[in-house]
Amino acid sequence: MPLKKLLRDPFKRILFELGAGYYARKLATGPEADIRRDFVRSLNLPPASPGTEALRFLDVGCGPGHVARGLAQSGYCVTGVDRSRSLLRIARKLGANERNLNFHLSATEKLPFEDASFDYTYATGVIYWVEHLAATLREMVRVTRPSGIVAFLDPHASMSVSNARAYSIQNRMSRRDTRKMVTWATSAQLNRRFEETELRRLLTDAGLVSLTLEQRLGGMVWFGQGIVPAGD
Ligand SMILES: C[S@@+](CC[C@H](N)C(=O)[O-])C[C@H]1O[C@@H](n2cnc3c(N)ncnc32)[C@H](O)[C@@H]1O
Repeated sequence: MPLKKLLRDPFKRILFELGAGYYARKLATGPEADIRRDFVRSLNLPPASPGTEALRFLDVGCGPGHVARGLAQSGYCVTGVDRSRSLLRIARKLGANERNLNFHLSATEKLPFEDASFDYTYATGVIYWVEHLAATLREMVRVTRPSGIVAFLDPHASMSVSNARAYSIQNRMSRRDTRKMVTWATSAQLNRRFEETELRRLLTDAGLVSLTLEQRLGGMVWFGQGIVPAGD
């Protein structure tokens, strides 16, 4: 394997480890926080009601756990995994008062859970970062129960620094939020951005059916989901 490719994953790991505080702050407010709330709304979840068993969620690459914490606060039972110790430390601290919220150190491509452990498995802003993409998607499908949902939020092929800048201007974003959009677009350009055909193939190969793909944020972001086929 070429040296550059070999060093890419350790570099990404160090980036999140050293930048944990920065990422926790960056993802807490602004366009990235807004789009994640929109993503959760798009799942059309049944309200959690006392007395019934809470839906079980897995947040893959949970980072500082902002999305996971929001779901736990809504009454769902949420587990987050990430391979960054520093980000998990922040996630545990921020979520310390939440019942039904727990975090584990794990790589996305080898999840430490039994088959069919969760009703919903999701990843926000993660799949485009991972080196082992197919293995990550397969693992997300494996740990989700039959008829459960696997969902994700990732960059569309049109996300670029120039499009992100134009979108920010059009939507009168503050300078700070514009910087966040540009940083996101830069990381998308350096990692992965998805065309619909590629995304459909990846999700189908991972075993998902009834795919739904929607473009948001001026078309630059995918909200995607698929269903784990029901057993025979
Ligand atoms: C852009 S952050 C998104 C964090 C969180 N999902 C959110 O939306 O707030 C990407 C996260 O993916 C994690 N990550 C990247 N590759 C990973 C891997 N192979 N295994 C586990 N976590 C990974 C990083 O540590 C980081 O926390």
